[in-house]
Amino acid sequence: MHSRIDFILPLFCLFAAFQGSYSAARRKSTPPDPPSSVVFQVTGNVYPRGYYHVTVNIGNPPKPYWLDIDTGSDLTWLQCDVPCTKCLPAPHKPYKPNKDLVACMDPLCASVHWPETHECKSPKDQCDYEVQYADHGSSLGLLVKDWFPIQYMNGTVAKPRLAFGCGYNQEVHSSMDPPYTDGVLGLGLGKSSILSQLSELGVTRNIVGHCLGAQGDGFLFFGYDPVPSSGVIWTPMSTTEIEKHYSLGTAELYVGGKTTGTKGLRIVFDSGSTYTYFSAEAYKALVSMLTNDIKGKQIYNANDDKSLPLCWKGSKPFKSIQDVRNVFKPIMLSFEKSKNVRFQMDPEAYLIISEHGNVCLGILNGSEVGLENINLIGDISFHDKIIIYDNEKQQIGWAPANCKKLPNIYDDGDPDNGGLCKPYGSNLDILQAYCAA
Ligand SMILES: *[C@@H]1O[C@H](CO)[C@@H](O)[C@H](O)[C@H]1NC(C)=O
Ligand SMILES: *[C@@H]1O[C@H](CO)[C@@H](O)[C@H](O)[C@H]1NC(C)=O
Repeated sequence: MHSRIDFILPLFCLFAAFQGSYSAARRKSTPPDPPSSVVFQVTGNVYPRGYYHVTVNIGNPPKPYWLDIDTGSDLTWLQCDVPCTKCLPAPHKPYKPNKDLVACMDPLCASVHWPETHECKSPKDQCDYEVQYADHGSSLGLLVKDWFPIQYMNGTVAKPRLAFGCGYNQEVHSSMDPPYTDGVLGLGLGKSSILSQLSELGVTRNIVGHCLGAQGDGFLFFGYDPVPSSGVIWTPMSTTEIEKHYSLGTAELYVGGKTTGTKGLRIVFDSGSTYTYFSAEAYKALVSMLTNDIKGKQIYNANDDKSLPLCWKGSKPFKSIQDVRNVFKPIMLSFEKSKNVRFQMDPEAYLIISEHGNVCLGILNGSEVGLENINLIGDISFHDKIIIYDNEKQQIGWAPANCKKLPNIYDDGDPDNGGLCKPYGSNLDILQAYCAA
């Protein structure tokens, strides 16, 4: 099965020190003249690929790397040649670092190790890191700094120097097909994430968003410009959460407008997870309601399909989700603290059509992978929506969107270049495919 859960499992035992760092982040106000936004084209799909990546250019001269977009963790890392002890098959040669190492004493190093403490024997020590994801994948390496040229939507290029992980030892669980990428782009709200570093340097605003198409591909952005001016449903990030994840507080689960009776579900958004994971109780209620709904509808359990644990077949193979739209009802999360805030998942946001033409449930039992009482909303449920993580206003928003259409706000009226393409596609890989003659 091709799928990932790029999510750092929480440690629930430490809080005091943490509240402080949260409020520090909140205090930082919007700069008077906010910088323009940055847009990246996203490639990938939930099935069969299992992940979405962007091309990021790093170094001087810049070289391209494919990074898995992950709002469920902070640290960005690349497979790295120092030399590489264990590198997985990847689209590009491992990154070769220059001599600019992040020191063990650097606050960034402490933030990568948080909530554990780390020891620096001498001020000249390097900063070692290890990240472990919920799917048991991991990366081990050291923190380095290098140039990250990025192109604003107005065409201007900025060249910030950012810290990231140089990973010389990567592991994946034996049952997993490793994703074909060079590393992970960490977009979490911790200090070490690329987003936090960019906003700290004043290069971009502390806002990230993504739009992942149900048919594959989409876009990722830093900044506010691509956010639709209307139709976005906003809900506050949960600041009572002691973990540094994009949490939305608790919700009640509905299927086809009827409550499942499961409430108090703690919801976290994570673009690094391919599928959505519900805690055991919610998962059980969901499966039982879906199973009830399909009774007598010419659709049967497909025990022969190993794509996902729960698949169904029809009298003939399904070609698209469209074929089962009248069988499967929308699933909905209704947020308990914010009145009328609902996150609706239509069939394309929780089902896939397998290679055998069966329809499979893309919501899995989180208890089976150790997520316990966290409900992780993954890529499948973000299909055809723009999702905005606004760390400045501490809120998360969503709206239906056409993810194939890249934000086109500097429209100069010429349909041939779509406004965006004029300054784009020149010196960076970004958007080249869209802007090619
Ligand atoms: C483009 O946007 C950046 C960031 O806001 C700004 O620094 C730069 O001056 C702008 N360039 C042009 C040509 O407007
Ligand atoms: C979900 O996983 C837990 C832990 O493995 C298990 O006890 C439970 O029976 C599972 N629920 C369903 C409905 O499969």
